[in-house]
Amino acid sequence: MPLLKLLHFAALLCWCGALLYLPALIAGGAKRSDDIFERNHAQLTRMVFTLIATPAALIAIGSGTALFLRDGIIEGWLVMKLTAVAGMAMCHAFCGALLVRMESQPERGGLTVSCLAVGALIPLLISATLWLVLAKPF
Ligand code: HEM
Repeated sequence: MPLLKLLHFAALLCWCGALLYLPALIAGGAKRSDDIFERNHAQLTRMVFTLIATPAALIAIGSGTALFLRDGIIEGWLVMKLTAVAGMAMCHAFCGALLVRMESQPERGGLTVSCLAVGALIPLLISATLWLVLAKPF
């Protein structure tokens, strides 16, 4: 398998895995009163976000862009795929905002509902992206 595509696969596996995990991790940090648990949990969540999800997203997007520039592909499925990937990137940024909210106001209501909503949207966007790139329907 060409190295660039291998890098693309490896990075998107890490990105998608971390994105699927993050909403549950953030929701788990809401409404806790135990100080030590709260500190350790917030640290772990921040580590998953900053050391795994964000670098993997940058590598997945960078390697995907390099593949697209190298092969000169301009087709309908790629445009649709990029739209779905933009949705994934927005969910990623939203997880970052929820993480900051979890750290500053863990007891505030609404965090769990937001995590549920983004946690339901992420698998849909990942499935749509994979379907578009594998089936190339357009
Ligand atoms: C800005 C971000 C991205 C760009 C520009 C991009 C672009 C590309 C390009 C040009 C290819 C080569 C297609 C081919 O040779 O047929 C490719 C392959 C692939 N991409 Fe991405 N991609 C991005 C993000 C993603 C994401 C987030 C996923 C998964 C959720 C993904 C899944 C795949 C898969 C599974 C393939 C292999 C398709 C095949 O070999 O048939 N990509 N990508």
